[in-house]
Amino acid sequence: MPLRIVSFESRRNLEMARLIEKNGGQALVAPSLQEVPLLDNHEALLFGRKLIAGEIDGVVFTTGAGTDVLFGILAAGYSQEQLSDAFSKTILVARGPKPLAALRGRGFQKILAIDDPATGHQVLTGLDATGPLRGKTVAVLESGSPSKELVDGLAERGARVFRVPVYRWTLPANLEPLRHALHAVIGGQADIVLFTNSNQIQQVLRFAQEEGMEKEFREALSQTVVASVGPVCTEFLDEYGVPVDLQPETPTMDTLVEEASRKGPALLERKRRGRIPYPEIKFNDAQLDPDCGRAQRPAPTKDPLISLSPLMKACRREATPYTPIWLMRQAGRYMKEYRDIRDRHSFLDLCKDADLATEVTVYAVERLGVDAAIIFSDILVLVEPMGLSLEYAKGDGPIIRNPIRLAADVSRLSSVKDGSGLEFVYDAIRKTRKSLPVQIPLIGFAGAPFTLASYMIEGQGSRNFIYTKSMMYTEPDAWHRLMEKITQSLIGYLSAQTSAGAQVVQLFDSWVGCLSPQDYRKYVLPYTRQVVQAIRPLSPVIYFGTDTAMFLESMAETGCDVLGVDWRIDLDQAWSRVGPEVAMQGNLDPAVLFADLPEIRRQAKRILDQAGGRPGHIFNLGHGVLPNTPVGHVKALVDAVHEMSGRSLK
Ligand code: CP3
Repeated sequence: MPLRIVSFESRRNLEMARLIEKNGGQALVAPSLQEVPLLDNHEALLFGRKLIAGEIDGVVFTTGAGTDVLFGILAAGYSQEQLSDAFSKTILVARGPKPLAALRGRGFQKILAIDDPATGHQVLTGLDATGPLRGKTVAVLESGSPSKELVDGLAERGARVFRVPVYRWTLPANLEPLRHALHAVIGGQADIVLFTNSNQIQQVLRFAQEEGMEKEFREALSQTVVASVGPVCTEFLDEYGVPVDLQPETPTMDTLVEEASRKGPALLERKRRGRIPYPEIKFNDAQLDPDCGRAQRPAPTKDPLISLSPLMKACRREATPYTPIWLMRQAGRYMKEYRDIRDRHSFLDLCKDADLATEVTVYAVERLGVDAAIIFSDILVLVEPMGLSLEYAKGDGPIIRNPIRLAADVSRLSSVKDGSGLEFVYDAIRKTRKSLPVQIPLIGFAGAPFTLASYMIEGQGSRNFIYTKSMMYTEPDAWHRLMEKITQSLIGYLSAQTSAGAQVVQLFDSWVGCLSPQDYRKYVLPYTRQVVQAIRPLSPVIYFGTDTAMFLESMAETGCDVLGVDWRIDLDQAWSRVGPEVAMQGNLDPAVLFADLPEIRRQAKRILDQAGGRPGHIFNLGHGVLPNTPVGHVKALVDAVHEMSGRSLK
């Protein structure tokens, strides 16, 4: 039986999953950290102000790591001298040898040292010996392990307790994987637990504590092989009372996984006693499957008429009586009826008025006879609830006047995890669903993380993406925080679209083609993949990009059901690159629609021939319908595709 390996690696989670699998194990990778800028720790800054003002009578330093973090924060605001002066007027309490060493290392001598095991009770006894605590203000550093006994004891003695959180890290926004991992460990369903960073243990214990499972988790770890990547990480684990069973010679993820896989079984045998029965936890969940979760085809949509529609079948790679077709930007300026409405309403008003959005969406379906509707909206509406301004200037396209340029801008950005602030989109989806023919699926959509991030950073269209790439390369932390916020918002937004009635969703990555294949994998893929994996259980996901012929395989690794490609690559070539387990959408050059009808037909035929009747082809353009495209040509394309692909089901 393969070893079941839990890892708390955050940023390189996918790489870790792959490593574990490569070494023959089953992976459950649960990201545990998200960096918080030190200066966002308002309580710690407030503590600093009170300390300097002489309002703090005593400080209990609970961990060495926490002590370091606190001094790091204070150093940003105060000089060494100010701090020494202020601390000399307070009682410094070191709970155990680690904080004692950290304080001594900073030159403090007058320290009330509480020896191990430094329980809350012992700290209180030590403090009692310094005099009455009534009316005194005692700050207690909080990091990881609970100080309830201490905090309650201080309160009982009439002291004011000032809790100072000293996390350099917060928990990630999506806590499901972590919860999953805790349950797996507690349930005795993990053989090895890997720690790849010294901060992970603090975060994981803190989360376990919040979930009321710290005791069980610690006990379960004593039945599991605990492997640490290197000496610093081991020291932290030790400090938090988690003994390490294995540490590789060189501190790298590769050697850690390799050694843990090799030595794990013997170590485990020695450690493990009886097991607690626990409900089954699924390892190798979709996110970590080597086939990107695709073995599990999307479940048929609830509504049987929709489920049997050619588009939905193609998403599931099932045979269809003809090739379904819809067109990106099928409702737009090339239609006179759309321009007439636009004469009376601004573009954003149109997006925000459910009746108008419904009218525009349904009209395009009726006029063209396409096999799906796409809700009328724009990828950029999401930036408003996240805190940016959005304007559509006449002729200039969308403009964001307060773009994200600095790390601090990222901190200001909200993450709309529940999709709130976009109710007009959900209203439009509900209304449109009611107005559409019953068998026509409705496609919801959003911008993919990269395209949204680049819009937020550039503020408008761009040729070279200088600001975006500068942030990626020079401020990778800010970039990752931005992508994380966008990812969480997208998950909330798209989930809400499916709840409102969207039966398929498409992610538009119109700008991602500006990246090198390596940068795509490093800076973008993990996030897009997270969105796709979160939405797939709710509806099939189409992932579309332009100019991406060089990294289609990586895009397919998101686990999308359908990959949308542009005309810069032949459809059959693209398909053979990503493999038959992905459906394909595309890929006529929208400019072909300006040609005459025989040419349009010829080019459409070429694409159908390349698809060769394989199940899972959705006909589309390689990008949106262009302004001024003759509507008659668009309709002729739809008819031609239906007619030329008409085939009877075997
Ligand atoms: O496909 C559809 O029919 C649904 C509607 C839809 C719109 N935008 C309406 C729109 C969709 C799916 C989008 C996606 C979108 N928006 C993308 C990704 C697809 C792509 O084309 O690359 C992007 C990059 C945007 C951002 C955006 N919105 C731009 C760059 C522009 C200006 C340029 C242009 O094509 O007009 C818009 C405005 C916009 N979005 C219009 C429409 C119908 C035109 C607004 C108008 O009426 O003046």
